[in-house]
Amino acid sequence: MSILDQIENRSLTNSVKWDRMAEIYQLEDPNDILPMWIADMDFAAPAVLIDAFKKRLEHPVFGYTFEDAEGTQAFVDWAKKRHGFTIDPSWILYQQGVVPAIAAVVETFTKENEAVIITPPIYPPFFNVPKNLNRAVKECPLHEVDGVYSFNFEKFDNMTQQEDVKLFILCHPHNPGGFEWSIETLQEITRICEKNNVLILSDEIHADLILDGRKHTPLAQVAGDAKNRIITCMAPTKTFNIAGIQVAMMIVSDEELRARLREHMLKHAQMSLNIFAGVALKALYSKEGEEWLEQLLPYISENMDLAISRLTEIEGIHIYKPNATYLLWIDYRQTGKTEEEIMDLLLTKGRLALEPGSKYGEQGEGFLRMNVSCPRSLVEEGIKRFTHALT
Ligand SMILES: Cc1ncc(COP(=O)(O)O)c(C=O)c1O
Repeated sequence: MSILDQIENRSLTNSVKWDRMAEIYQLEDPNDILPMWIADMDFAAPAVLIDAFKKRLEHPVFGYTFEDAEGTQAFVDWAKKRHGFTIDPSWILYQQGVVPAIAAVVETFTKENEAVIITPPIYPPFFNVPKNLNRAVKECPLHEVDGVYSFNFEKFDNMTQQEDVKLFILCHPHNPGGFEWSIETLQEITRICEKNNVLILSDEIHADLILDGRKHTPLAQVAGDAKNRIITCMAPTKTFNIAGIQVAMMIVSDEELRARLREHMLKHAQMSLNIFAGVALKALYSKEGEEWLEQLLPYISENMDLAISRLTEIEGIHIYKPNATYLLWIDYRQTGKTEEEIMDLLLTKGRLALEPGSKYGEQGEGFLRMNVSCPRSLVEEGIKRFTHALT
């Protein structure tokens, strides 16, 4: 038995995933619904983190703090070892999350009414954060054939030439699709953005969650000189299931861009992390953290294989195996059901909460996102409920 088979009861822990379903899905009684929606895992965090927190708690004072240089170095070493990503520690600016980092980048490098490009289907804050800041959002939808997504480079090139376009937000690996972009695609993205003077924010929060022995390639690492026009976001929060700790890194190799971002963050008083974030970086970007991750990745891959083999027995259901993340992107278009119908069946008959694809833009219609980062017995239960709902 793996430690990942252990069920943690997360109900009544202020967990968004387990305790917020009534509001999100408008349910009177969500108590027996199995949540396989928002992207956090149901696994306990690595023991090395719990031990580090316990040790810190032995000191009873939690006053103002500042970033821990050892924690930063631990991340720099991790990025080099795991991703071949060479980072100078001075390039790193911390934020409380990747979404706040996106807001900081959008506000610093674009003006109101200027435009940001996104490529739906895509993680919803890519739409919402720029919109809420009164920026125009220009969509360059991905092209999809049998669950395989690709860039529409002709449209992308034309769009990046438009006067008002200042920023492109890339999701790499891609959420909700669950895949790593190829090196050729990454190089073409940087070539076009460099030529048309468009800055890139590369959200690589899922970088550590690459499956089946593959490797993540950071955009900035293959961008050559264009790397100075890239801001990469990474974090330990998805990797080690610590979203509630709230920490993310912005990697900004260009001194001028970094100075502008730092000034923006100072204006918004955004400079320090909470005391546990520093402890977490140091504890998790370590040999023990890596061992935990090496156990996690095959477990997720097997969860995916299990869910794919069983769910695709249902008529009209197709799933292309992701090579990254712990999210399945389930294609139900051939069932002929509408999103409303399928969500209703899943929630009322199956008692199962998945993410409706339209959350990721209209290109997500006909898809459901299912989070399989949980003990195998819960994946089995999810499969049972899905099958019961649809058959
Ligand atoms: C692509 C992507 N970016 C950012 C986030 C959230 O980042 P944070 O919790 O650090 O704000 C998620 C969470 O699912 C995500 O999938």
